[in-house]
Amino acid sequence: MLRDIRKNYQQAALTESEMAADPFDQLHNWLQEALNSREAEPTAMVLSTVDADMQPHSRVVLLKELTPEGLVFFTNYQGNKGQQLQQNPKVSVNFFWQSLERQVRLTGITEKTSGAVSDDYYHSRPADSRLGAWVSEQSTIIPSPDYLVERFESFRQTFGDTIPRPPHWGGYLIRPTSFEFWQGRPNRLHDRILYTQLEQGKWQIHRLAP
Ligand SMILES: Cc1cc2nc3c(=O)[nH]c(=O)nc-3n(C[C@H](O)[C@H](O)[C@H](O)COP(=O)(O)O)c2cc1C
Repeated sequence: MLRDIRKNYQQAALTESEMAADPFDQLHNWLQEALNSREAEPTAMVLSTVDADMQPHSRVVLLKELTPEGLVFFTNYQGNKGQQLQQNPKVSVNFFWQSLERQVRLTGITEKTSGAVSDDYYHSRPADSRLGAWVSEQSTIIPSPDYLVERFESFRQTFGDTIPRPPHWGGYLIRPTSFEFWQGRPNRLHDRILYTQLEQGKWQIHRLAP
């Protein structure tokens, strides 16, 4: 029964004195630990956007860069999330690293990365992935899987070995406005440490009730 499934978390604890003063450093540390763990997709993050009707939408995307400015992921600018971000750049992001009993939540504001950043990442991808960005009109209704296979072949013939970045494909930078680090603890007395931004580069730390 689903209702009988429960786990007692006891791997680690968070103390304010051990948390980094800057949440970017804390996220960087936890990401490194997740990369060194047995997590299958340590860079996977649930990205939530809100549409014009105030309806939230969540989906997984992959973190491709963590810079001093924020978190970068890549996608189709014309798909559902792209349209939602055009109207409302506010997002929520969630990492869940199950084996470490950890969650990171953050809120932020997105902006498109420069064409140079998108080009740089696009051209680091294998040819089939680059073609895929042309093939998929993300989030549109399609008649069948074959439709994609045919488009794939057609774009392969069009471009040959030189596959340019589609203008509708690129990166978003998420500039964080708050971070929360969660560590599972015994008896549901979990640790939650919230960082809120006071001013550029200055963060305040609070402990939250689980
Ligand atoms: C593990 C995993 C990684 C994914 N990574 C990405 C990604 O980096 N970029 C992306 O656009 N979609 C990615 N997807 C697909 C998205 O979850 C989603 O289906 C797609 O972006 C369309 O979302 P939208 O219709 O809300 O725009 C990933 C899905 C999974 C399960």
